[in-house]
Amino acid sequence: MHLLIQVVTAVLLLLHPQHVTAQGCSVNLKSSYPAPVVASGYSARLILGGLSRPRSILFDQNKNLLVVESNKGITHFTFSSDDGATCIAVGDGKTLINNPDVSTYPILNHGIELSQDGKTLYASSSDKVFSWAYDPDTATVSNQRTLIQNMTNSDHVTRTLLLSRKVPDLLLVSRGSGDNLDDLAAQESTGISQLRAFNLSALSSSSIYNYPTDGFTLAWGLRNSVGVAEHPVTGGIYTVENSADQIKRLGQDIHQDNPGEEMNFHGSLNSTGSPRGKNFGYPHCFALWSTDIPNRGSMPVGSQFSLDPQGAIGDAQCANDFVAPRLTFQAHVAPLDIKFDKAGDLAYVTMHGSWNRDQPAGYRLVSLAFDSQKGEPKEPSSSTTAAVDVLTNKDTSACPGSCFRPVGLALDSAGRIFMTSDSTGEIYVLQKAGGGNGNGNGNGGGGGGNGNGGGNGNGGGIGNENSAGRTLVGLGIAMAVVLGGMVLA
Ligand SMILES: *[C@@H]1O[C@H](CO)[C@@H](O)[C@H](O)[C@H]1NC(C)=O
Ligand SMILES: *[C@@H]1O[C@H](CO)[C@@H](O)[C@H](O)[C@H]1NC(C)=O
Ligand SMILES: *[C@@H]1O[C@H](CO)[C@@H](O)[C@H](O)[C@H]1NC(C)=O
Repeated sequence: MHLLIQVVTAVLLLLHPQHVTAQGCSVNLKSSYPAPVVASGYSARLILGGLSRPRSILFDQNKNLLVVESNKGITHFTFSSDDGATCIAVGDGKTLINNPDVSTYPILNHGIELSQDGKTLYASSSDKVFSWAYDPDTATVSNQRTLIQNMTNSDHVTRTLLLSRKVPDLLLVSRGSGDNLDDLAAQESTGISQLRAFNLSALSSSSIYNYPTDGFTLAWGLRNSVGVAEHPVTGGIYTVENSADQIKRLGQDIHQDNPGEEMNFHGSLNSTGSPRGKNFGYPHCFALWSTDIPNRGSMPVGSQFSLDPQGAIGDAQCANDFVAPRLTFQAHVAPLDIKFDKAGDLAYVTMHGSWNRDQPAGYRLVSLAFDSQKGEPKEPSSSTTAAVDVLTNKDTSACPGSCFRPVGLALDSAGRIFMTSDSTGEIYVLQKAGGGNGNGNGNGGGGGGNGNGGGNGNGGGIGNENSAGRTLVGLGIAMAVVLGGMVLA
C-alpha cells in the first residue's frame, strides 16, 4: 500500500512538478507530527507554521487575519492567493502590536476583538483590556488606551474578550481562577472566576473600569471559561469551561474521568432575566462525567455534584442553588474556544488536550449540533456524545509531544474554519462540504456520519479538495482517483 502511494506520487510529481494534487493546490505544508485525521464531510489543510504560540484569531474588514501570538503581540496576515476550498496561501505577516519590553508594553496573551465597524481593536493581558484605533488599510494601530484593569491573578491568566453583535455596547471579559480550587471564587466581590460585561459606550475617555466591581456579573462560579460565544440567531451567550484537576470525593480519587468540562448557557444580553448573574458552582460543585463515583445516587451525567457531599454544600445544594451545564464533555479535554457557524446550527469547539489523566484526551476540534432557531444544543444535558470529531490527532497517546493542540477559531465570510495550534505554532484551515454532515461515503465503519470514525479518510470522499492529503489514507484515495483517471484516459 505504501509502496503504491509512493509510486503514484512519483508518477504525479513527474507529470505535474508544481502541483501534486488533483486540484492543483500548491500549498502543501507538512506537519512535523503525523498528519491529522479529517472527519468525513470536511477537508483540511495546514497553511501556516513558524508562529510563536498563536492563540485567538479573527478577520478584519479587509478579510485579513489578526493573530495573537502569546507574549509576542499581534500579527497581521494577508493572503497571497485563495484558490477556493482550503487552497489558501498566506502572505507575509506584519507585526501590528509588538511586545518588546515587558515593563512598558501590555503582554498580550490571548484575547482579541474588533468593533462592529472594524475600526477599534481590543486585546487583553492577564491584568488589563486595551483598545487601539485600527486602520485595516495600512495595518496600523494608534491611540492605545486601557479600558479595564485589576484582573491579575496567578494560574489562569487568559482574559477572553467578546464584543456582542446583538447589544454592541457590551464587551464580555472572562477571567479564570487563581488556583485549581480557589476559595476567592466563592465571593462575588473578588471578580475571580467570572464572566463580566462592560458598557463601552458609558466609559468616559479618562476612566478605566475596575474589573471586580464595575460592569455587571453575567455569570460567576466559572473556574476558567476560556471560550465565549454569542449565538448568531438568538444572541444566547455560551461559554466552555476548563474544570478542576486532581479531585476526590469522599476520600476517593476520581480525577481520571471527573469532573466533566462544561458548556454553560448565560442567556441573551437583551434580557435581564435568569440566568443573568447566576452562580455556576465552582469551587463547590462540579459536573458529573463518569458515573463511577462513590454515593452517586441517581445523578445522571451533567449533574452538579459536591466534592464534600457531607459538608455544608452537598449534592442537593449543588443541584438546587447553582446552574448546571448545558452540555458536559470528557474530563480534562480543555475546551478553549467556541465559535458558531453563520446559520447557528453548529458550534465548533477546540479541545486543547489533557494533562491530568493517564490516557491523553482532547487534542481535537469538535462540532456541536445546535437548533439554529432555538439557539440550543440538540443533545440533552446528560449526553456523552454531543462533541463530534472534526479534526483529530492520529494517535492521541503520543500527545502532547507529537500532536497539534488547537486553541483559537475564526470563520471567514465563506464559512471556512481557521484554527490555531499554539504548541506547534501553526494555523489550519478547514472546509465543511455543503449540504450537511455525513453525506460523505457513509463510511461503513461505525457511527453513520458523525462517529469519530471520521477517520479513515473517507474524508477523501468529500472531495478531492482534501487531496492535499491531510490524511495518508485520504491522500491515497485521491491519488488512486487520479491514477484511475489517468489509466482510463
Ligand atoms: C482590585 O480589586 C480588588 C478586589 O479584588 C480590590 O480590593 C482593589 O481595590 C482593586 N484595585 C483597584 C486598583 O481598583
Ligand atoms: C450603554 O451606555 C450608554 C451610554 O450611557 C447607554 O445609552 C446605553 O443604553 C447603554 N447600553 C446598555 C446595553 O446598557
Ligand atoms: C433578544 O434578541 C433576540 C434575537 O434578536 C430576540 O429573538 C428576543 O426576542 C430578544 N429578547 C428580548 C427580551 O428583547
